[in-house]
Amino acid sequence: MKRKVLVIEGDGIGKEVIPEAVKLLTLLGDFEILKGDAGLECYRRCKEFLPRETLEKAEESDIILFGAVTSPKGVKDYKSPILTLRKTFNLYANVRPINNFGLLRLEGYLGKNKFLDVKNVDLVIIRENTEDLYVGFERELYDIAIADRVVSKKASERIVRFAFEYAKENKRKRVSCIHKANVLKVTDGLFLKTFYEVAKNYKIEADDYLVDSASYLLIKEPERFDVIVTTNMFGDILSDEASLLLGSLGLAPSANIGERKALFEPVHGSAPDIAGKGIANPMAAILCVAMIFDYIGEKEKGNLIREAIKHCIEEGKVTKDLGGSLKTHEVAEEIIKYVTNY
Ligand code: NAI
Ligand code: MG
Repeated sequence: MKRKVLVIEGDGIGKEVIPEAVKLLTLLGDFEILKGDAGLECYRRCKEFLPRETLEKAEESDIILFGAVTSPKGVKDYKSPILTLRKTFNLYANVRPINNFGLLRLEGYLGKNKFLDVKNVDLVIIRENTEDLYVGFERELYDIAIADRVVSKKASERIVRFAFEYAKENKRKRVSCIHKANVLKVTDGLFLKTFYEVAKNYKIEADDYLVDSASYLLIKEPERFDVIVTTNMFGDILSDEASLLLGSLGLAPSANIGERKALFEPVHGSAPDIAGKGIANPMAAILCVAMIFDYIGEKEKGNLIREAIKHCIEEGKVTKDLGGSLKTHEVAEEIIKYVTNY
């Protein structure tokens, strides 16, 4: 039976980049494609940000490809569709590859005529997606605000094992645990201890860093890192920091993986400032398709897509955010040309 993929374009540039990604998905694979609605435009039409019908389609799908949604301003009780999907299907592992495809010099990134030289960056951040401070146990006691932090042995073991299995499958050399166990002795202490217990079962290098020093080294010496595994909030912050090494959010894909289902989405949002102009970089969405092929065990197709993207970057066949002048669909056409001539 064909695998079912639910495609949710969402708002803004989600509607521009996802259709290009779907072209690669259907060109290289044999899937049954379902379509689902979500986001702000959907809310304006049907008063729901994530209609029940979309959730039902998600339930029957194996894979979800999600574009981006615009968060509403001033809507009370807004629940982000993406958070709802993560929670509903217990997508416990967030995977963010940070690969700049050899892009060396980021121009103007620190201001006009300033350059940031970045070596070949190719690392992956794996973040626990269900616990930590984000469980939302917050309360007020008079004028003191308190938040509980939850780290369980079970969830720690699951994410660390996921990281080592990921390293093994992708021939990565090292897994680094990022934590603050010197201060958070109980919670991060448990996470770190679990990390080294699980590490013993693998022939892969294992080391650890304190989060403050890791956030400095991530920019200064990114080549130090290979696979990073960390708790929810540190992972949230470090993965946005690491996106800086890409020069554009248009190169950052992500996956949220559970036991039975997985959701893939570009890291960027709906980018209202460029939406409707046809200039959004489709590479992040297309890299999500590469991750879908990795996920279903067709790694050679994933690699072919990444090779095509590297080729386009080297040839300057890129959108404005990477210094080029191609339109969204033209970049996708170049990628398609590369993978079909292969
Ligand atoms: P954003 O990621 O949409 O845009 C940030 C900047 O990066 C903008 O200047 C944009 O033009 C540029 N950019 C982003 N993706 C690009 C691409 N593919 N090609 C070229 N340039 C690109 O973040 P922003 O502006 O903070 O948020 C806009 C809306 O998106 C908000 O309503 C926000 O809540 C929502 N959002 C949704 C996310 C999701 O659906 N997962 C994630 C992040 C933001
Ligand atoms: Mg974030």
